[in-house]
Amino acid sequence: MTVRINPSILTADFANLERELGRISSADLVHVDVMDNHFVPNLTFGQRMVEALQRVTPLPLDVHLMIDDPDRWAPGYAEAGAYSVTFHAEAAGDAVDLARRLRDIGARAGLAVKPGTRIEPYLELLPEFDQVLVMTVEPGFGGQSFIRSTMPKLGLLREAVTRLGLDIWLQVDGGINEETIVTAAEAGADTFVAGSSVFNGGEAAVQIAALRAAVAAHAH
Ligand code: DX5
Ligand code: ZN
Repeated sequence: MTVRINPSILTADFANLERELGRISSADLVHVDVMDNHFVPNLTFGQRMVEALQRVTPLPLDVHLMIDDPDRWAPGYAEAGAYSVTFHAEAAGDAVDLARRLRDIGARAGLAVKPGTRIEPYLELLPEFDQVLVMTVEPGFGGQSFIRSTMPKLGLLREAVTRLGLDIWLQVDGGINEETIVTAAEAGADTFVAGSSVFNGGEAAVQIAALRAAVAAHAH
């Protein structure tokens, strides 16, 4: 299994983002949390920030849109050069049409679900996506505790991905640390977003290595 560690810059020092990106050069992608104060009660940054970040890091950008009306706004992030653009199922009008537009522009298309959202209605749509994000906290803020009851969704996703013969990344986001990453990996995840455990835990490269080691030690 290929494991990906995507640090979330939500917990980084916003006044020194270029320096913060330099601390995570051993990561696989950079997770960029876009929030609009409507879909979630928090506000971060938009498309111009994605363009600016891209100029100062060689790592691909994994953009997580926690915004209303992604049908209108998400393609702009793909055009801005995001490697992947993930929008929320709860906010999308026509998720399949939007995913196709993102892919046409050249981005990976991602579908995200909040902890309380069932995944069953989306399983047959999986061929339209490159990645699925199972939120393991309520979206909006870093530093929250991992919600264990979301784990059965990963089992359903992993089973469907295998049955349909797909190559889709299964991502978790929220409360990921050296313990919960093992739980999520055993449940079927392969792509891990980590904010506070990478940026608040001392040396970021050491934290990223510790997350990789935790998964590797439990891989079976
Ligand atoms: C929450 C964001 C997460 C957040 C994770 O809405 O989507 O990406 O940064 O932060 P931690 O790892 O601290 O839970
Ligand atoms: Zn996120």
